[in-house]
Amino acid sequence: MKNVILSFIVIFLLSKSQAQEGKQLYIKHGCNACHSPFERKTGPSFKEIAQRYGSSKAAIEKVAKLIIKPKPSNWPSFAYMPPYNIPYEEALKLAEYVLIHSQKEKPSKTSVDDNLESDHF
Ligand code: HEC
Repeated sequence: MKNVILSFIVIFLLSKSQAQEGKQLYIKHGCNACHSPFERKTGPSFKEIAQRYGSSKAAIEKVAKLIIKPKPSNWPSFAYMPPYNIPYEEALKLAEYVLIHSQKEKPSKTSVDDNLESDHF
């Protein structure tokens, strides 16, 4: 029984730190200058992106590729996103943040959080 509880705690902490990793990359690469989880800025909100692609493994892989090599024609009413010359592994973590973890944050707090956290960089 003790082991079961322990493994739950370990899995919980691991999944939490993975979610954090995506968010840290999002701030480190300055994505938050143009994006936010729930509001449109220069780029579409992650909510709109998540609604378009879903959260399957295939969606994460597709979005990871689009972060490295954006396709502005996917979002004709927006300006162009600059390409990101980052490792595919990082793009996957970012895509997971865009499609899944960012959508678990609280809508009313996120933009304030973004601003507070980007002050540290
Ligand atoms: C200078 C502003 C800017 C920055 C910085 C930026 N984006 Fe974007 N992003 C856009 C715009 C504008 C679009 C819509 C047009 C396009 O895709 O070119 C977009 C689209 C996207 C899409 C949808 C792609 C598609 O084709 O459906 C994703 C995902 C995305 N951005 C993630 C990110 C991530 C992750 C970062 C940081 C690594 C980032 N963006 C940084 C402006 C930006």
